Amino acid sequence: MHPSEAAADRPLADRVAIVTGGSSGIGRAACVALARAGASVVAIGRSAPRLEETIEQVRRAGEGGLLSLALDVGREEDMARMAERVLERFGRIDILVASAGILRNRSGPRTATELTLDDWNAIIRTSRTTPPTAPRSSGSWA
Ligand SMILES: NC(=O)c1ccc[n+]([C@@H]2O[C@H](COP(=O)([O-])OP(=O)(O)OC[C@H]3O[C@@H](n4cnc5c(N)ncnc54)[C@H](OP(=O)(O)O)[C@@H]3O)[C@@H](O)[C@H]2O)c1
Repeated sequence: MHPSEAAADRPLADRVAIVTGGSSGIGRAACVALARAGASVVAIGRSAPRLEETIEQVRRAGEGGLLSLALDVGREEDMARMAERVLERFGRIDILVASAGILRNRSGPRTATELTLDDWNAIIRTSRTTPPTAPRSSGSWA
């Protein structure tokens, strides 16, 4: 294959992508897609064994760097640690896929009437607040 064809196949080569919720579902699929496009992938979730499964799939899909971090995106200190670890390893952060979510539990999606206010606040914190703000507040976006 000509080098320019290889580059066209890997438009995200040299980019570093963080995927929260990378241990399952949409986040895991995003990790694989990003790896196929050439990116280095950082998969985030709380479950180390599930992250391992993602890492196996990502390894088969791409040639970029790989890192998995088991942490809680709802905790600001975890997110600061995440930014530190990613910068230490890759020196930059280009892409954030915020796919961590707790809307569904083991028995399926939860409806609005099943949720308490605490549940709702945890959902918003997990999927909406901390992931985008923590890397920015630590000044770590490339
Ligand atoms: N699937 C759908 O049809 C659909 C439709 C609309 C919206 N969404 C939203 O899209 C997102 C992903 O959906 P999905 O179907 O891929 O969900 P999923 O399979 O349940 O995956 C959720 C992911 O979030 C991670 N996670 C949850 N809380 C976390 C925390 N505090 N810290 C770190 N990681 C955490 C889980 O990892 P660990 O368990 O390892 O922590 C898991 O990797 C969710 O926000 C969901 O609400 C999904």
